[in-house]
Amino acid sequence: MADMMWAGRFSKQVDETVNAFNSSIAFDGRMYRHDIQGSIAHATMLGDCGIISKEDSLAIIEGLKGILSDIDSGSLELDPTAEDIHMFIEAELTKRLGDIGKRLHTARSRNDQVAVDLRLYLRDEVKEIHELLVKLIRTLIDTAKQHTETIMPGYTHLQRAQPITFAHHLMAYVWMLLRDLGRLADAAKRMNYCPLGCGALAGTTYHTNRQQTSELLGFTDPMANSLDGVSDRDYCVELNCALSLIMTHLSRFSEEIIMWCSWEFKFIELDDAFATGSSIMPQKKNPDVTELIRGKTGRVNGNLLTLLTMLKGIPLAYNKDMQEDKEAIFDSVDNVKLCVKTFIPMLATMRVYKENMRNAAARGFINATDCADYLVKKGMPFRDAYKITGTLVAECISKGLTLETLPLEEYRKMTELFDEGVYDAISLDTCVRERKSEGGPSPDAVNKQIAQAEAALGEFV
Ligand code: ARG
Repeated sequence: MADMMWAGRFSKQVDETVNAFNSSIAFDGRMYRHDIQGSIAHATMLGDCGIISKEDSLAIIEGLKGILSDIDSGSLELDPTAEDIHMFIEAELTKRLGDIGKRLHTARSRNDQVAVDLRLYLRDEVKEIHELLVKLIRTLIDTAKQHTETIMPGYTHLQRAQPITFAHHLMAYVWMLLRDLGRLADAAKRMNYCPLGCGALAGTTYHTNRQQTSELLGFTDPMANSLDGVSDRDYCVELNCALSLIMTHLSRFSEEIIMWCSWEFKFIELDDAFATGSSIMPQKKNPDVTELIRGKTGRVNGNLLTLLTMLKGIPLAYNKDMQEDKEAIFDSVDNVKLCVKTFIPMLATMRVYKENMRNAAARGFINATDCADYLVKKGMPFRDAYKITGTLVAECISKGLTLETLPLEEYRKMTELFDEGVYDAISLDTCVRERKSEGGPSPDAVNKQIAQAEAALGEFV
């Protein structure tokens, strides 16, 4: 174990157990690129402001670039006993440049350094997640376009309720995911302020130029308060909230896919490449991917609670508790990416059994509302029409009939308002075609919302 950078004040080496306990390089090592990016901006500013010489600044920048390409190529390995990625890179720079390397940390603390690194890192991750979501939305819209006439039952309480189309159902998820994109964009906007230059907590006596580092790193502005700059992890919480909602949406969708794949439903079948078998039951084809997504939603929500709980009791400014932020938010980001990446091709390759959807829609009296509406359109108050239809449904059930097969005499026993036209009014096709209210399942209405969704997506790409 090398001497600690801060060894001067101490009379002993840090205990090895404590060092291992304290060290974060195992999980913050992944931010090496962003740490170097932040350091290059800092060194540039130090040189431009005359805080260090121009030559030293240039040498530091070259040194940092060399470290970056060596880590990238694998010729420089991260030392697992280093305290964290920030200390590792600074020590490596000093190993390479001697005294010049020691000038990098002028007018900076690890507290603003880690704060800027994490923002830079998460900003890139948000971009990736954004792109994945756009792909997922496109896949859903493309599938929806093929199924505007594919009738299926819509459910409430998991009981067949009213007829919809598969396109209508898929588009519901498109709107959820579009809101997720909005939340991500919003979180990214608020995250994009620069804590570099806040120092340990109280700024610095050097004449630094925080505007410059902020601009070099592509931030909107420097953070306005140095205490807040090093203490704030709201952006991790906010991002994790957005990720939790993405997972919640994928999880609800997964649950439906799991049901639709069952023999009881058989609305869809996953491609063999996206399903798994059983070790004992040769007939099984299991929707493991969707179950894992449903399961992983729990850990992403758990991470949200980790972050909130970590923050709630710590006084300003930096406290070591905050080191716990990274594993939580990294885990959320990693898992969301994995889930979306797997979900897209799984959806794109699934087989849709239109006949089974239609057959399910044809049973369960899902046209009962339409039967009542038929009477309403002939002048009967809705509540009376509702009651008559309920009685007819009960009669059908007791005679083993459906509303389609119930003879007209039976209808007319209830009210003379019924005539032959009732059969057309309650046919599945009519029920769907006529549900053309804005946002409804009729092919016309769904085509309209597909156009709306495409326009909304256009705002994000
Ligand atoms: N590894 C630390 C973290 O992730 C870096 C900041 C350390 N600052 C300090 N004063 N110990 O939070």
